[in-house]
Amino acid sequence: MRKHIDKFNDFILKENKSTITFEKINEHTYKLFIDNNEIGSVYLDNAKDSVMFDKTLLPEFSNKKVWGIHQMGIKPKYQGKGYGDILLSNIVKLSKNNEIDLLVLGVLSENEKAVNLYKKHGFSEYKDGVVKYMYLDLKSV
Ligand SMILES: CC(C)(COP(=O)(O)OP(=O)(O)OC[C@H]1O[C@@H](n2cnc3c(N)ncnc32)[C@H](O)[C@@H]1OP(=O)(O)O)[C@@H](O)C(=O)NCCC(=O)NCCS
Repeated sequence: MRKHIDKFNDFILKENKSTITFEKINEHTYKLFIDNNEIGSVYLDNAKDSVMFDKTLLPEFSNKKVWGIHQMGIKPKYQGKGYGDILLSNIVKLSKNNEIDLLVLGVLSENEKAVNLYKKHGFSEYKDGVVKYMYLDLKSV
């Protein structure tokens, strides 16, 4: 039995005979499991406490509740099977449940897979460069 702080029963998904769960591991870390196998993870924080995000770049950033997405990933052997979609959908759902206004992240511009994934889920770019900064207004989804 894993010792997790919390387990989100509403994030349990049955797929064939497997159960996919999105679980809170500690204050900032969440993981995606198929049955007992960890397949992906993400680190979420208050973007205003993060050195990574420049508040002046995003309109109204300072008036909103903003979470930053960091180190999101699916383990290599599970990539390309739709689990990135499931992980990001769960992050969006969790954020909405916590009444967060915006999600922000930075991704290497050359990381086509990740950029496509974020665009597919409605993220827009607010600064481009080697790192592309993107945000999602949670009122729009
Ligand atoms: C980026 C990542 C999270 C995507 O997860 P995944 O499970 O491989 O992606 P999925 O199979 O769920 O695909 C979801 C979407 O991602 C994009 N995508 C996935 N693989 C892709 C590829 N080979 N080429 C282009 N776009 C791709 C597509 O938009 C895809 O949607 P579609 O199938 O409807 O076209 C995963 O590849 C990963 O962990 N990569 C390494 C770590 C990383 O780069 N993390 C992001 C840091 S910001």
